[in-house]
Amino acid sequence: MNRVVEPNLSSDQLASPNPAVVTASSTAIRPIVVPLGLVTVRAETPLLPRAAFVTITLASLLGAFFTGRTLGLAGAALLWRWSAFWALAASTGFLAWRSFYLRDDEPGIDAGRVRALVAAQLERVRIVRWALAPLLVVAALVPVTTGYLAPWQAGVLCAGAAVMAVLVLASPRNRRAGALGAVLGIGLLSVWGVADSHGDPYLSVVRGVHLAAFAAWLGGALFNLAAAVPAGRLHLNLDAVVAGARQLERFRVVVRTALPTIAATGAWMALRYAGVASPFWRGEMGWMISAKVGLILVLVVIFITCPLYRACSPVRGVCDLDDLRADAPEVRG
Ligand code: HEM
Repeated sequence: MNRVVEPNLSSDQLASPNPAVVTASSTAIRPIVVPLGLVTVRAETPLLPRAAFVTITLASLLGAFFTGRTLGLAGAALLWRWSAFWALAASTGFLAWRSFYLRDDEPGIDAGRVRALVAAQLERVRIVRWALAPLLVVAALVPVTTGYLAPWQAGVLCAGAAVMAVLVLASPRNRRAGALGAVLGIGLLSVWGVADSHGDPYLSVVRGVHLAAFAAWLGGALFNLAAAVPAGRLHLNLDAVVAGARQLERFRVVVRTALPTIAATGAWMALRYAGVASPFWRGEMGWMISAKVGLILVLVVIFITCPLYRACSPVRGVCDLDDLRADAPEVRG
């Protein structure tokens, strides 16, 4: 269902010499027709971004289970270890959006309105941090109980996740803390990558890149759902739509890189076990990786379909700014 809202026009837009800015007469909902069209918002959060988030989570669960099994873990220990990967990855990508894609100043649009949108996003970060920080504390405890880690690895992973929890808590008011947290998260996932690769330097690097791409994707998807979309709903003016669209596009560039990276590094790691047509992939262990190939195909379809159906955001124009232009109603008055 679409709700037509009255866009809060910036002073620049109101002062625009373009005569196309007119208001409809006194109806209950009074849309303002602006040169670029109407800012509208759908009541429901689109399904596809949520589906992507769940699919990435599932793929990570299968990956961590596969590796955990090869390392001799079983039962609850597998789930416990996966929780550490998920918490680190979600926090890393989340902080990357907070510190790198979100900008206080966006060239060419009203600075006050951009700051108001950013403030609303940071309010959401303030809420989400209270979910991420406890998960990171859990992540900090995992290395202590994971038997195969060298003492230095367990120490670094344990202390690193605890420091990251502090950085997550500081991130709403401190951009640098967020940036540091994102870098630390990549570092900690790299340490897991080394620890899980039996000292093989190539495998350590490939696994580290696989995990970094996972983190950027998962955490960005979390920020979009938990901060960008709810804040965008509260700021239905063209400047906020443009700022939101730019942030989303920065994240899309990351996803465009993460998707082929995760597929290529995953395929490389998988082919170390058996050839493409091997019965290994249908066996007790192999199905976990075969299922991941299916999940990555689902993600490709979502990535292509999302912008096609303007499903990345419920606010019209955030997915594709051209929607506002294409939708511009005829000029009256
Ligand atoms: C969004 C998609 C994906 C995510 C989020 C993901 C995530 C993960 C994670 C978290 C691990 C665990 C690493 C560890 O425990 O050290 C892993 C391992 C693995 N992944 Fe993926 N992965 C994805 C896609 C793929 C694909 C498409 C393939 C294959 C073509 C693949 C192949 C593998 C393999 C073979 C391993 C285990 C490596 C080993 O232990 O030797 N992954 N992945």
